[in-house]
Amino acid sequence: MSKPDAPRRKPETEVVTAGRNPLAHHGAVNPPVYHVSTLLHPTMESLEKRSQTYSYGRRGSPTSQALSDAINRLEGGAGCVLAPSGYAAVTLALMSVLHSGDHLLVTDNAYGPTRAFCDKILTRFGVETTYYEPTIGAGVAELMRKNTRAVFCESPGSLTFEVQDIPAISQAAHKGDAVVIADNTWATPLLFDAFAHGVDMTLHAATKYIVGHSDAMLGVVTANNATWKQLRDTHGNLGMHVGPDDVYLGQRGLRTMAIRLKQHEETALALAHWLQRRAEVARVLYPALPDDPGHSLWRRDFTGASGLFGVELKPVSHTALASMLDHLELFGMGWSWGGYESLMVPAHPTRTARPLKTEGPLLRIHAGLEAVDDLIADLDAGFARLNNAS
Ligand SMILES: Cc1ncc(COP(=O)(O)O)c(C=O)c1O
Repeated sequence: MSKPDAPRRKPETEVVTAGRNPLAHHGAVNPPVYHVSTLLHPTMESLEKRSQTYSYGRRGSPTSQALSDAINRLEGGAGCVLAPSGYAAVTLALMSVLHSGDHLLVTDNAYGPTRAFCDKILTRFGVETTYYEPTIGAGVAELMRKNTRAVFCESPGSLTFEVQDIPAISQAAHKGDAVVIADNTWATPLLFDAFAHGVDMTLHAATKYIVGHSDAMLGVVTANNATWKQLRDTHGNLGMHVGPDDVYLGQRGLRTMAIRLKQHEETALALAHWLQRRAEVARVLYPALPDDPGHSLWRRDFTGASGLFGVELKPVSHTALASMLDHLELFGMGWSWGGYESLMVPAHPTRTARPLKTEGPLLRIHAGLEAVDDLIADLDAGFARLNNAS
């Protein structure tokens, strides 16, 4: 329904229309799901020249193309590929641009497994990683080496929520001929226009807000013109593929993402303000709060906030914290985020560029779509248990 070359409309419209063409499918509103490995070719010439749009299931189908097209359109990229998880999207993006002997700069607040990939896998292939302070901005220029080929950003970081000055980082990276990769999962393609801010390759754990219902694992990586060929070739050569039913769940989630995000933001802000007034809380880490250190950069570069934020408590025993978390009724304890449900987990970020100083334990909250008064009542009862156990 959105012609690929038509000017982009408002995000709320694009999430509904992008990657769909009902009249090409007998009027079916949603693109059909193709379960396919083998695709038959009408002639030997067609088989040998791979002249069909789709030649083999692993290399894509109308189902995967529909979601890639939709994400690519939302991002305004040159092309998008799908990966079996958000983590696979991270590793794919890095492998697309790095070669043996290269140096890589990674923000110190990156998602834990991203660090593990750099430390445990990339090292085996002769790629050296330096972790940089997330708020370094233009100062990243001082860490650039002759062989620095990529700068990896995650803004805000999904445990500590620092906002990065991506335009300044991109400028320094490009000056040294390095590409900028951004894990844009927190903001989704809707709340941060990565390419307009100098990013070359943007990725999402679509498992979170794009799928939106905690029922499938999925990753997406989108490239600009300069990096698209490397991304497309590496994706094919690594044999990455996502099953059609999971792709469909990504497409289905996408259609309601804009409206869900608005509610996630409204609820997260209400919870964040309420938590700021609690005596047990040392600090709330959420760039949408006016007193957050990243607020002015967030206002400059983002068009909204999603529902994930952090809370630093005043010092409290492990037992007291457990008595709060163990009996919450609406906040589930589990990894991941971005679904319709509220979650709360203790967070233990790894830092090597500069130690992270916290007064007490750090919690990560995902504000779901439940009524905010009910969520506040659940937290209130939790703090009562924490205080009783202290
Ligand atoms: C910021 C970020 N990037 C990537 C991932 C990895 O996504 P997945 O769990 O789909 O592999 C996560 C998962 O929590 C994440 O929080």
